[in-house]
Amino acid sequence: MKVAFYDAKPYDRPGFDRYAADAGLEIKYYDTHLTEDTASLAAGCGCVCIFVNDIVSAEVVDRLQELGVQMIALRCAGFNNVDTRACYGKLHVFRVPAYSPYAVAEHAMAMLLTINRRIHKAYNRTREFNFSLVGLAGFDLHGKTVGVIGTGKIGRVFGSICKGFGMRVLAFDKFPDPATGMEYVSLDDLFCASDVISLHCPLTDETHHIIDKAAIDRMKKGVTILNTSRGALIDTEALIAGIKEKKVGAACLDVYEEEADLFYEDFSGHIVQDDKLVRLIAMPNVIVTSHQAFLTNEALDSIAYATVTNIRKFFAGIPSPETEVCYRCGNQPDCREDRNKKCF
Ligand code: NAI
Repeated sequence: MKVAFYDAKPYDRPGFDRYAADAGLEIKYYDTHLTEDTASLAAGCGCVCIFVNDIVSAEVVDRLQELGVQMIALRCAGFNNVDTRACYGKLHVFRVPAYSPYAVAEHAMAMLLTINRRIHKAYNRTREFNFSLVGLAGFDLHGKTVGVIGTGKIGRVFGSICKGFGMRVLAFDKFPDPATGMEYVSLDDLFCASDVISLHCPLTDETHHIIDKAAIDRMKKGVTILNTSRGALIDTEALIAGIKEKKVGAACLDVYEEEADLFYEDFSGHIVQDDKLVRLIAMPNVIVTSHQAFLTNEALDSIAYATVTNIRKFFAGIPSPETEVCYRCGNQPDCREDRNKKCF
């Protein structure tokens, strides 16, 4: 079985090469993103393996189907980049629901500590033998309130890390789970009471711009906003306005609304045309990382193993309802019983 692997990076290959050999897969690695124009690279492949910024539109689905592709193996948890409605009945879509929630939650905390204690500033200063502390004051996390939006695998870990710092943890989730032991409140109460707000919900029609002007207006002055989830959870223009008005004290962004054409690539020798991103990066109280929260050795290994397992099981005819993404049922456990646990 051949697999067309898009947006391949050097750190992807060791894990995938290791597990693919055992599973009898031949992987064709391509640096390029999957688009309508590059879909033809998948000719002769039963599967395309993609990442967060490969956009699978209805046109791409049709092109892949014409080429004989049967499945899309996402090597990530989120699937907002795939038109699952267009895929239904044509291409089976699988994802890696969990690989290391610790990787993402720890990165969120790393960003919070960095921005709050000005580590990024201090690092640059001492490299130039500037040992002044002026402008580097932060605040104790201990005793502050953090609002966690989305209390799934990552949000829970982040909440427990924050508890370790002595923070009060408030939570909001569409489906609150009492087993988390978190203090659930309304979204509005979370906005009003939190010193730090961290996003850990998926990007859906409902959560698109969950942080907008109205939300920022409700927040405490000086709030720190963390986004390690998906860029479009935040209305970037509203965020920039909030920072300029000093309502938002700081922002840590591992994801960005318009990241698809920029993140994971080296533009250091270019003039970046995205003025909003350039404005954010120029702000002293903003840190941007390029969707790297997942990037630990443990997570990479786990992603490779789980993705290869999804591909192997699909072509062996073994259903995998826990990792298949289904437009029709949204993964309800009872849906597939009448179809032998297959989506279509
Ligand atoms: P999860 O599925 O375990 O948890 C998501 C939570 O969000 C669930 O509890 C769900 O009930 C809740 N939710 C759904 N709709 C909501 C709504 N409208 N309002 C509030 N809460 C809602 O997912 P997990 O593994 O915790 O991942 C969370 C997100 O993190 C993913 O969707 C993905 O976008 C992002 N992510 C980012 C990575 C990075 O490298 N920056 C890596 C992995 C995931």
